[in-house]
Amino acid sequence: MSNPAPDLFDAALAVRLQAHAPYSGFRVGAAIRADGGRIHAGCNVENAAYPQGQCAEATAIGLMVASGDRRIAEIVVVGGDAGAGVLCTPCGGCRQRIREFAGPDTPIHVYDAGGHRRTFTLGELLPFSFGPDNLGF
Ligand code: THU
Repeated sequence: MSNPAPDLFDAALAVRLQAHAPYSGFRVGAAIRADGGRIHAGCNVENAAYPQGQCAEATAIGLMVASGDRRIAEIVVVGGDAGAGVLCTPCGGCRQRIREFAGPDTPIHVYDAGGHRRTFTLGELLPFSFGPDNLGF
């Protein structure tokens, strides 16, 4: 699948540097391109009470919604250490969060911080998902 435009990768890379990740040391940046073209970027925000930490995707989605956008056209997730070669795929909870505002064909581009990429669709990462349509919305 095609590369995202560089602006989306650059936004994820830049916001990753703002991560509050003193406990894991694992910085993550997520950048959403919403339908209409606006970019919403967020980082992970950890907490001394560990379960209260928030993933980068959740931050980006919250900012998207607060800005008035409701549909994800594509999303880039960048995490880990440069050169580690380990791609940062969204956790299960974040796949469901993305599902709320995306469809099965929505591209999710995952990178390590060294720029190695793989692109999945949401349908690949979360098959047979439960979404608004299951509730008749
Ligand atoms: N993390 C994210 O922000 N997004 C992901 O897709 C995977 C994991 C964060 C949560 C935690 O702050 C750190 O990475 C280590 O799990």
